[in-house]
Amino acid sequence: MTTASADDVGPTVRVGFLGCGTVGAESVRILTQRREAITRYSGVDVEVVRIAVRDLGVERDLPVPDTVLTDDPAAVVAADDIDLVVEVMGGTDPAGSLVAAALDLSKPVVTANKTLMAADGPALLDKARAANVDLLYEASVGGGIPIIRPLTETLAGEYVRRVMGIVNGTTNYILTRMDEEGAGFDAVLADAQALGYAEAEPSADVDGHDAAQKAAILATLAFGTRVHDTDVPTEGIRGIDAHDLGLGRRLGYVVKLLAVAEYDEAADAVLARVFPAMIPDSHPLANVRLSYNAVFVEGESAGRMMFYGHGAGAGPTAMAVVGDVVDAARNLRQGARGPHVSRRALHGIKDGADATSQYYVRLEVEDRPGVLAEIARAFGDHGVSLKSVLQEGREADAELVMITHASREADVDAAVAVAGGLDGVENVAAVMRVVADEDA
Ligand code: NAP
Ligand code: HSE
Repeated sequence: MTTASADDVGPTVRVGFLGCGTVGAESVRILTQRREAITRYSGVDVEVVRIAVRDLGVERDLPVPDTVLTDDPAAVVAADDIDLVVEVMGGTDPAGSLVAAALDLSKPVVTANKTLMAADGPALLDKARAANVDLLYEASVGGGIPIIRPLTETLAGEYVRRVMGIVNGTTNYILTRMDEEGAGFDAVLADAQALGYAEAEPSADVDGHDAAQKAAILATLAFGTRVHDTDVPTEGIRGIDAHDLGLGRRLGYVVKLLAVAEYDEAADAVLARVFPAMIPDSHPLANVRLSYNAVFVEGESAGRMMFYGHGAGAGPTAMAVVGDVVDAARNLRQGARGPHVSRRALHGIKDGADATSQYYVRLEVEDRPGVLAEIARAFGDHGVSLKSVLQEGREADAELVMITHASREADVDAAVAVAGGLDGVENVAAVMRVVADEDA
């Protein structure tokens, strides 16, 4: 084995942490306990020198002396003995101004903060570029799954057509258990909260906001443009009925909450959205179970790729942070910085109403002659062609389950509205997009 000499390694890169909770504490542990091995492997020596927390009274089991702890994060950023800043406190305030201050001082920054990167990522990346230092954020999407670096570096020459991800572990856990056990949303959510998978206030996860932030980051990167999380139309999973998961299975589909970002070449526009969808059970994303995440990338040259792993948790997320710290430290010592994705203004963010998709529609209906014909006419009048129709139940319990061919989404909405108003239709029970069979 070759051991790096002091000359090879150069001066130690001194790191200041902003935050030391779930992700920060594990990152500090790895950087400290594996310091020698990291130096041997990477050729750069990294030391955690200062750590800012909110409450100095909290008992912490850290492999560093208590004297490195402070409750003044701005002082950590400004300190002369800090070369590199790790932001793992979360939120936009004060994290955003602290990251900006570090970059203004030409200190590289590593962050795990999807909220900050989805809101202000492009502006902060421009600041990093102007200062000629790194702003790395691998942990912000997919936790421990390498996806930011592959998109930025490995696929730099790729023409990416679409990125489709299961990027929220809580909702994937809930949907998997509803699918496999036939249990209802409320019961599984309560169980997930008791087990610590879901937050007591679950809205960020179950209403899709966490996935929307990750969709914005992925779209910004994949298409070299600026997509803000407020540009991402978002639907969550609260309204999902286990009955539809069962029917979907029988039709060969699995329901997943997807973050989808795609580029429309003709319109020169990006559409990034979050919605629950039926995907063919043969699709690689269909087998991503429980709290696992995966990001599926479709490129013109490399074809289809899937990046899979733990989307959260101390160990996986800290590993992504540590990888970024080592990278940024090495670049700092070499007077370099990692690749910067140039962004350009597109024609715009595409309007979802013009997007096309196949649909799953379930209607509770009266079981009498002519009802199906009236419903089919409502769809036909809006140019929506039905691919398959299944009648379930009889008489008072009858329901029609339809899969449409790919159609303009606004036309499907209009057809469903008309069908829902027909005398023979008692209720529009479910409407869900379907990822096309040819994509499986
Ligand atoms: P956390 O456990 O709540 O830790 C936050 C840390 O920041 C705590 O140490 C807290 O101090 C400190 N802090 C918060 N506000 C502060 C302030 N104003 N001044 C000084 N210190 C402050 O959060 P986490 O789960 O580690 O998440 C950190 C970041 O990683 C977030 O951006 C999150 O979205 C991202 N992330 C987390 C995961 C995950 O699995 N947890 C996965 C991917 C990404 P105290 O310890 O004194 O409270
Ligand atoms: N709450 C997120 C999830 C993890 O359930 O996947 C942090 O991004």
